[in-house]
Amino acid sequence: MSVDHDTLARAKAMAARDSFPIKGFSHLEWWVGNAFQTAQVFRSLLGFKIAGYRGPETGTRETASYLLEQGQIRFIVTGAMGPDHPVSEHVHRHGPGVHDVAILVPDAEAAFEIALERGAEAATKPHVVEDARGRAVVSAIQAYGDTIHSFVEREGDLPGFEPRHDAVARPIGLEFIDHVVANVELGKMDSWVEFYERVFGFTLLKHFDDDAISTKYTALMSKVMWDGTGIVKLPINEPAEGLKRSQIDEYLQFYRGAGVQHIAMHTSNLLATVGETRARGLDTLTVPAAYYEDVWQRMSGLDVDRSKVEDLQILLDQDEGGYLLQIFTRMLQDRPTVFFEFIERRGATGFGKGNFKALFEAIEREQEKRGNL
Ligand code: FE2
Repeated sequence: MSVDHDTLARAKAMAARDSFPIKGFSHLEWWVGNAFQTAQVFRSLLGFKIAGYRGPETGTRETASYLLEQGQIRFIVTGAMGPDHPVSEHVHRHGPGVHDVAILVPDAEAAFEIALERGAEAATKPHVVEDARGRAVVSAIQAYGDTIHSFVEREGDLPGFEPRHDAVARPIGLEFIDHVVANVELGKMDSWVEFYERVFGFTLLKHFDDDAISTKYTALMSKVMWDGTGIVKLPINEPAEGLKRSQIDEYLQFYRGAGVQHIAMHTSNLLATVGETRARGLDTLTVPAAYYEDVWQRMSGLDVDRSKVEDLQILLDQDEGGYLLQIFTRMLQDRPTVFFEFIERRGATGFGKGNFKALFEAIEREQEKRGNL
């Protein structure tokens, strides 16, 4: 966990000098049809602990939410009690998905004011959430599609939940959110890049054009925005012209617009993490045998058990800083929209560019089965 302490130290240093200080991801809030069942799936398949509950029994009449924790990762899953609630409308339109990519800030009121001054659209005015366990100030602005960015100022954990003790959850080694990826409509990538530059002062970390991310049939373009330290990285994808419909087009069709495509979570031992999820029945994407012939030839200096890597279908890539191991889950809901990545960085700061082709071919095989290619 030494990585996390370094990250926190860097964040604090930045907060002292930055005009839009950010301390990291606070949490992601999912809006779903049935929060109880989503919480159970995230608990059993992904090892999240149910740490809190908020609902009618605790005085919140219209929604039920579970607070899920693993390492530094916090998810809130929320469902609604009736059809007219915004959560129900969101689920009706988008299916289950991420409504809020919440950012931890030292001052939620100042963050809100600065963001509005820089042209962001308000979603929620600053307000205090307080209970016996702690206090937070929360505000929010609109992001891509129906997604928002909350600004959360808190010292301890998220208040507003009745604490739960979870003796059942078995963590799988997920430590922190590495990046959160957005899919946006054709032609909209650059305006969202500009939004993150203008509002957050983010810069472009990497740019992948359709040459880098194309298969025989489909293509996409991607730009990675970041805060300059690496604690918040937000890649943005848009579809590119191809012979067939790309995975981004498929997402946009089924999510009915822009939204969160995948959440990458870091583990220090991907082989152990994937061994565990496989035993629990979580499906991950596979690659053909030829992928590994190429990888073992292309990459050198790897300290990995090759047969285990091949058995678990783990992907590898390298860049100037080192290498990384990664894997992608299949969809965890009915619609082909949001999924997870598990990533173990061993020096590499990239996003698995060398795997894009193999990965997208794997995704296209799934898309074809769904009749959406
Ligand atoms: Fe990723």
